[in-house]
Amino acid sequence: MPEEANDPERDLPFKGNIDLEKLKSLILEYKAENIAAVIMTVTNNSSGGQPVSMQNILEVRKICDQHKLLLVIDGCRIAENSYFVKHREAGYEDKSYEEIAKEMLRLADAFVMSAKKDGLVNMGGLLTLKDDSLSQQCTNLLIISEGFATYGGLSGRDMEAMAIGLKEVFDPDYLHYRIRSTAYLGEHLKAKGIPVVWPIGGHAVYIDAKNYTQIFL
Ligand SMILES: Cc1ncc(COP(=O)(O)O)c(C=O)c1O
Repeated sequence: MPEEANDPERDLPFKGNIDLEKLKSLILEYKAENIAAVIMTVTNNSSGGQPVSMQNILEVRKICDQHKLLLVIDGCRIAENSYFVKHREAGYEDKSYEEIAKEMLRLADAFVMSAKKDGLVNMGGLLTLKDDSLSQQCTNLLIISEGFATYGGLSGRDMEAMAIGLKEVFDPDYLHYRIRSTAYLGEHLKAKGIPVVWPIGGHAVYIDAKNYTQIFL
């Protein structure tokens, strides 16, 4: 996270971005050959469900290319992130949420997803890879952990639910309802003086617990 995003009260559009300078210096410090992958979590869970901009992922892609590093997107909240990109990043206002998600995923070498989030299902997930040989290695490992790639440990019913969930999550009314209902709760807590991570992120309202105990205990 960029330094300024560490301030829970600071109102910034993309507090989930990777700090590009820190990323570059970490690569230099640990050396690219010792780094398996750069993983971007979209939206950024540890910063309060804050979104990541397309510009930031583009820059990370360039850095990964320079150092021949694999870029993995943990995109279990990719639809929520697309909502923020459309409404906050210049040039995306006329694109659909689905188009934005596809554009972002095209920048990655791999995409992992716990489908319990934006897949709108009770159980299941995805791993997709561009590289055929890496994909084959994962498929082989999968057999001893989850099952064959044709079902990955899931029942047909669960896979069908996921296929439908991945379409329904991009419905503009649904996404709007989802982001707004989280923001509604957060805005009301803030109005009551509860210190929340601001602006409200996608999937949750994060209480600034350190500040909270100072104010209320
Ligand atoms: C960003 C992110 N990735 C992965 C996971 C792991 O999901 P699961 O418990 O379905 O394996 C979570 C769970 O909350 C998550 O928030």
